[in-house]
Amino acid sequence: MKIMVVGGGGREHAIIKKLKENKSVTEIYALPGNGGMHADAVCVPIGAKDIPAIVDFAKGNEIDYAVVAPDDPLVLGCVDELEKAGIPCFGPRANAAIIEGSKVFSKNLMKKYGIPTAKYEVFSNDAEALSYLEKAPIPTVIKADGLALGKGVIIAATREEAYDAVKSIMTDKKFGNSGNSIVVEEFLTGPEVSVLAFTDGKTVKPMVSSMDHKRAKDGDKGLNTGGMGTVAPNPYYTADIADECMKKIFMPTIEAMKKEGREFHGCLYFGLMITKDGPKVIEYNCRFGDPETQVVLPLLESDLLTVMQSTTNGTLDSCEVRFSDKHACCVVVASDGYPEKYESGFEIEIPDEIKPSVYVAGAKYENGKLYSSSGRVLGAVGVADTLESAISEAYKKAEKIKLKNAFYRKDIGKKALMAKTGE
Ligand code: AMP
Ligand code: GLY
Repeated sequence: MKIMVVGGGGREHAIIKKLKENKSVTEIYALPGNGGMHADAVCVPIGAKDIPAIVDFAKGNEIDYAVVAPDDPLVLGCVDELEKAGIPCFGPRANAAIIEGSKVFSKNLMKKYGIPTAKYEVFSNDAEALSYLEKAPIPTVIKADGLALGKGVIIAATREEAYDAVKSIMTDKKFGNSGNSIVVEEFLTGPEVSVLAFTDGKTVKPMVSSMDHKRAKDGDKGLNTGGMGTVAPNPYYTADIADECMKKIFMPTIEAMKKEGREFHGCLYFGLMITKDGPKVIEYNCRFGDPETQVVLPLLESDLLTVMQSTTNGTLDSCEVRFSDKHACCVVVASDGYPEKYESGFEIEIPDEIKPSVYVAGAKYENGKLYSSSGRVLGAVGVADTLESAISEAYKKAEKIKLKNAFYRKDIGKKALMAKTGE
C-alpha cells in the first residue's frame, strides 16, 4: 500500500514510524515531511496547506490512503478534497474540524449539549468585550476564535492584561481574522490531562492518556511553547475519571457532532482539566497532539493502519485498539532561544542505536548529514515498565544526541512522578 502523510513535524514522524510496522505498507510519502524522516519516508516538498498540490500528488502517485495530521489543512478541507478525488483519508472533514477551528463553535456546542466546560461569553465587538471585562472576575481567560498557531489563548492575571489581550486580538488583529470574535472564559484550576481518541463518528476509543509540558523552562516557567515534553499515561487520569469522561464528555461530544450533521472521523483530542467539580473540557483539537503522539503511539499494540482505516470506514466498533501498560516519556530538544528568536542550521548527530525512538520535528538532510531547521528539533522517547525508568531512558537518549545551541527541560515527568508517589 502507498500511504501519504500530510505534515512535517515530530508527530508525523511518530505516525510514520508506527504505520511502517504494517507489512502491507510499501511506500510512505511525507508532504512536506522533514530531513530527519529521510530513512522512513519519501519527503515531497509540498506544503501542508497547499491542498490542490496535495490532491494532484495523491492522484498522480496512486495513493491508497492519506493521513492528514495538522490542524490547518484539516480546517481548510484537505480531507474533503482528497475524498472527492477518491482517496480514503484519516482525519475529519472541514465541517467537523471546526471543533478546533472555531472556539465559539466548540463552546456553543458544549453549552447546547451540556458537556462540562468553563463558563464563557462570546464577543465580536471590541468595545463590548472591554466593557464586559470592567466587571468580569479576574483572572480571566481570553481566546481568539480561530486558529492562532497555539498562541491565541491569554490568561489575564490582571484587568489591564485582559484589556491588552482584547486590544491585541480584536483591535490590532494580531492573529488576523482568527480574532474577529473572542471567547472570554472562566479561569479554571486543576491538573491538565490530554486524551486522544479514535472515532468513526459513532464509536469512540480513547488512547492512553498523557501529560504535556507547555512552558519552555523547568518548573513550568518561561513562555508557552508547542510542548517541551510529555509522559503517558497521566497519573491524574484515574479509572474513575476515565469512566466519568467517557459518560459526560467523550460520548456526548461524538453524539453532539453527529446530531449537528458534522460526524467526526479521525483523532479527536480532548484537552481536559480535572477541577474540584470534576473533569472539564479546556479545548478540543481535531487531530493528534504534538508531542503527545510521540508517547502515545509507541504504547499502541494494535496495528495503527488498521485502526485508522476503521475510523474512515465506520467499523471502529469491531476494531481492537489495545495499549500496553508500560510508560513512555518524550523529552523535546529545542534550539536555544525557542520559542522566541533562535538560530538553526547546526549539525545533529543521532547514534544509530537510539534512532528508532527519536522523532525529528525539524531538520534538513544534506550530503548525508542532518542539520537543525526549526525551534523544536526532535523528541527522544523512553518506554519502560515504570514511569521513573521511562523518564531516565528518555534523558539517556537526549544526552546522547549531539546538537550545538540546543536545550531541553530537565524536569519532564517530575510532576507526574510526584502525583504518583503522593497517591
Ligand atoms: P489551549 O490553547 O486552549 O490549550 O490553551 C492553552 C492553555 O491555556 C491550556 O493548556 C491551559 O493551561 C490554559 N487554559 C485554557 N483555558 C483555560 C481556562 N479556562 N482556565 C485555566 N487555564 C486555561
Ligand atoms: N500539545 C498540544 C497540541 O498538540 O495542541
